[in-house]
Amino acid sequence: MTDPHTDAVRHHDPSVRGFASDNYAGVHPEILAAFAVANGGHQIAYGEDQYTEHLQQVFRRHFGDRAEAFPVFNGTGANVVALQALLPRWGAVVAAESAHINVDECGAPEKIAGIKVLTVPTPDGKLTPELIDLQAWGWGDEHRAQPLAVSLAQSTELGTVYTAEEIKAICDHAHERGMLVHLDGSRLANAAASQGLPLRAFTTDAGVDVLSYGGTKNGLLFGEAVVVLNPERVRDLKFLRKMSMQLASKMRFVSVQFEALLAGDLWLRNAGHANAMARRLEQAVREIDGVTVVRPVESNAVFAILPREVSERLQKRYRFYFWDEHTGEVRWMTAFDTTEADIDAFVAALIEELGRA
Ligand SMILES: Cc1ncc(COP(=O)(O)O)c(C=O)c1O
Repeated sequence: MTDPHTDAVRHHDPSVRGFASDNYAGVHPEILAAFAVANGGHQIAYGEDQYTEHLQQVFRRHFGDRAEAFPVFNGTGANVVALQALLPRWGAVVAAESAHINVDECGAPEKIAGIKVLTVPTPDGKLTPELIDLQAWGWGDEHRAQPLAVSLAQSTELGTVYTAEEIKAICDHAHERGMLVHLDGSRLANAAASQGLPLRAFTTDAGVDVLSYGGTKNGLLFGEAVVVLNPERVRDLKFLRKMSMQLASKMRFVSVQFEALLAGDLWLRNAGHANAMARRLEQAVREIDGVTVVRPVESNAVFAILPREVSERLQKRYRFYFWDEHTGEVRWMTAFDTTEADIDAFVAALIEELGRA
């Protein structure tokens, strides 16, 4: 396909969809349209543009009057910037063993920020006060990195969702011990849609100190935001963001995407739709002999076990990942643009491949 306005040529088939990650999806058309709104003319670079200024009001509507948003490029960067704002050089953060900061960031919190991640195994990706206590000890002992923060993800890497009460209990527990709380909200919109609650119910109102707010998985081209909820305890974000190479010069184009996402209900429509597609997939595969759904489906991911050779053949037709090479568990993720027809075709392919087993 060619377009008279550009020399770029379409190199992919836009009808192809898979179940590997919500990151595989393209950009929501309302977000693409927002770029054109912000384009043209000159605006002050590095975040002093009018879009980033207005964005503060947009975030405050969701997270309360004290919230301050710092747009960044990606989720790993958001986590690394946020954690640095919580911890001194000798600090450590307690997280689930399955946390993105532990397993999927190439050690960036350790290498870029110099922060030790103290992990605890969890059955479902969720921390509890009791689990936190397995690592929350040894304050004052100079031989131990000081556990001064907790990081949890909502929704978790295993597709599970904390209730607002569970997050509040973690925040109260952490604060009683002098620890601050970071929430990796790369899929916070999916959690809010799943529980039918406003974004602040799991964050500001629950006592979270700083948040990595996810845009990319929710329909943006790129962009996440570090959102400070407790400005007394979380400071110096603007310096940390630049030092961590997360300061966009043309920031207006990150900010305008967030405005398009959060000023109305696009965030909720996209997340609610992705979740509904995961439920449709779950309901269909639960009916199939030979497929076992192994985790609760509470957001936009389905985890299942099926014969390995069936998964391998199915992978030739659809992209998805093995989550656990040992057990053969696979992860199927849905996105804002997954259609009912995509699910039905995938399920039909799965049944076909099982029949050949
Ligand atoms: C829980 C979680 N946090 C953060 C991220 C963001 O990572 P990045 O944008 O750096 O790929 C992801 C992406 O998969 C994620 O699943």
